[in-house]
Amino acid sequence: MFIEKFKVESPNVRYAEDEIEAVYHYETTELVHESRDGAYHWIVKPKTVRYNFKTHTRVPKLGVMLVGWGGNNGSTLTAGVIANREGISWATKDKVQQANYFGSLTQASTIRVGSFNGEEIYAPFKSLLPMVNPDDIVFGGWDISNMNLADAMARAMVLDIDLQKQLRPYMESMVPLPGIFDPDFVAANQSGRANSVIKGTKKEQVQQIIKDIREFKEKTKTDKVVVLWTANTERYSDVIVGLNDTMENLMASLEKNETEISPSTLYGIACVLENVPFINGSPQNTFVPGLIEMAIQRNTLIGGDDFKSGQTKMKSVLVDFLVGAGIKPTSIVSYNHLGNNDGMNLSAPQTFRSKEISKSNVVDDMVSSNGILYETGEHPDHVIVIKYVPYVGDSKRAMDEYTSEIFMGGKSTIVLHNTCEDSLLAAPIILDLVLLAELSSRIQLKFDGEDKFHSFHPVSAILSYLTKAPLVPPGTPVVNALSKQRAMLENILRACIGLAPENNMNLEYK
Ligand SMILES: NC(=O)c1ccc[n+]([C@@H]2O[C@H](COP(=O)([O-])OP(=O)(O)OC[C@H]3O[C@@H](n4cnc5c(N)ncnc54)[C@H](O)[C@@H]3O)[C@@H](O)[C@H]2O)c1
Repeated sequence: MFIEKFKVESPNVRYAEDEIEAVYHYETTELVHESRDGAYHWIVKPKTVRYNFKTHTRVPKLGVMLVGWGGNNGSTLTAGVIANREGISWATKDKVQQANYFGSLTQASTIRVGSFNGEEIYAPFKSLLPMVNPDDIVFGGWDISNMNLADAMARAMVLDIDLQKQLRPYMESMVPLPGIFDPDFVAANQSGRANSVIKGTKKEQVQQIIKDIREFKEKTKTDKVVVLWTANTERYSDVIVGLNDTMENLMASLEKNETEISPSTLYGIACVLENVPFINGSPQNTFVPGLIEMAIQRNTLIGGDDFKSGQTKMKSVLVDFLVGAGIKPTSIVSYNHLGNNDGMNLSAPQTFRSKEISKSNVVDDMVSSNGILYETGEHPDHVIVIKYVPYVGDSKRAMDEYTSEIFMGGKSTIVLHNTCEDSLLAAPIILDLVLLAELSSRIQLKFDGEDKFHSFHPVSAILSYLTKAPLVPPGTPVVNALSKQRAMLENILRACIGLAPENNMNLEYK
């Protein structure tokens, strides 16, 4: 059964006018490796830590500024939100289609809240805590192409033509602000698009971005702004001692107009200086060590890297399932045929390399979790190929072959063919990233023994479900398995209203 909303009644939860306060008992373990009777033993000690969570419930008017607003993702997301807000429907060759938010974890997935008369009861994910309604988001942003959003939507060739016609009047007046462009960081084939760029030194460019954010906030009367990079994939920046390895060196390099500071890092610096959350949806190392240090020091939320939309999402499910079932993946080969502008940009070796890196680590945690299947240091062959095939446009083909060792030396091969509809998969992920980043900035916590509430660590591991190469606080293990990432997110939000983690034990029925 499905219910729209619910309220928790518990001595551990207090609903006030502007906040929800919850006491939560975190059940965890402590491991000790100690010598007893002449041999070493691992001792596992269960422990309970008491936490207090405080969530501000007043939902702000949210502005979202996209870097690469006029791209396939940016234009598709903007169009999709307008279509939902205006209740637009359109004719396809199959039926009359209504706008929806399918593919968004927050808007279109559910959580189990319990059972009633032997029936499982589910509620929307978004009913856990007050969240911004995506229909109310005000969009803006930058692009190096000055094309208005209506034309950009047509250029993207993603949405049905009848829908595009209806959306055009809403989008013609939306024109991206000039962007920071450096041809050295993207494929040479992108330069033809760059007709609207910010001039000046790198420091002046950062100052311009700060000015743009302030003016946007002022003009749109938004309470909060989140900035998200959905522009072209850049090549990796070199991380060099003295250049970008510390906050101090990065800021000094900015003063010196050092060439190796990428445009995405410049947007990041501007956001951190302005205390505006900044999320990177592409694979490059925007978050060089100096920028991460700066975000931590200024307590500004940063998140990334690279939207997890198609092939990698499947991988983070399939390999988790195989290794969890005691089956040993030995070879994973992934081909991509990509025909949009992203594909054209990725056809250069240096930008492809960024994508290859972000796609390649996704099975590491699952492999290292099973010492029965894999020896220390052993790893499946993992190969990633991306080819630019203009004809397929935004309907990316992902073809994967997984070969595994099974019982008694047997081999099992799974072949997957996935037509990804790239931007239609990425747009709801962008929505989730900004909605969850906003929500997490309203949550405070403290454990027993801490005297003050504090926000989550500014390097936002909470967003990992949505990214291919999750950015996590220094020293934190990276989790790629999709089900674990989702459980982490859901259980943290449940804790904020005093609900236990979903444990699937169903003891009531045993
Ligand atoms: N669509 C997906 O499923 C998906 C998944 C993971 C990651 N991504 C990443 O998202 C990014 C965007 O994808 P897309 O399909 O929308 O690409 P796109 O090429 O259609 O859009 C990128 C836009 O960014 C603009 N741009 C480039 N450099 C800029 C800069 N320095 N400042 C401002 N604007 C700039 C371009 O003019 C273009 O309009 C890519 O890096 C892609 O790898 C996409």
